[in-house]
Amino acid sequence: MKNISIVELPWQEAPVDLLLLADPSLEKLNSYLKESKCVVALDNKKPIGAYVLKPLVQGSYELMSIAVLPEFQKKGVGTALLKHAVSFARESGARRLEVGTGTFGYQLAFYQRQGFRVYKVDRDFFLTNYPEPIYEEGIQLKDMLRLSVDY
Ligand SMILES: CC(C)(COP(=O)(O)OP(=O)(O)OC[C@H]1O[C@@H](n2cnc3c(N)ncnc32)[C@H](O)[C@@H]1OP(=O)(O)O)[C@@H](O)C(=O)NCCC(=O)NCCS
Repeated sequence: MKNISIVELPWQEAPVDLLLLADPSLEKLNSYLKESKCVVALDNKKPIGAYVLKPLVQGSYELMSIAVLPEFQKKGVGTALLKHAVSFARESGARRLEVGTGTFGYQLAFYQRQGFRVYKVDRDFFLTNYPEPIYEEGIQLKDMLRLSVDY
């Protein structure tokens, strides 16, 4: 897409509604936002996509949330943001970049295309960590697949 710029914002300016598309719990989002790096894709100054990267112990990062507004999806914005996160972690000398996602759906290919690989399954993660059931493509999310890029 033309005219897209990718910039970091202070956490106070994070586009919360947008980030909730990826992690539906506002409580969870608020618990990690302050200590994280928030990066947005702007289309003529309007945030159309964003990601949040939380520093972990031992020089690793976790991609906590990545989302693009529905009307701007499938145009390469998500891939541009994901590549930005992978490059940032590499350039900052990180050992690993982690992400957790469902065990099915297009997101799995989205991450693996940028070099993420599966290292663990957290069974029942979505059942025990979210108050409401979460459905995608009509299937209830139960287990979380943990993926990483190791540098
Ligand atoms: C995941 C997400 C950030 C991808 O952003 P995006 O801008 O659509 O990504 P891209 O345009 O770079 O698409 C990359 C590929 O993902 C796949 N894809 C993206 N959206 C898809 C959809 N709704 N259905 C099927 N495949 C999809 C396609 O294979 C696409 O490649 P293609 O356009 O060559 O076919 C976006 O779909 C989103 O915000 N989803 C809701 C929140 C979410 O699930 N976040 C991830 C949490 S684990």
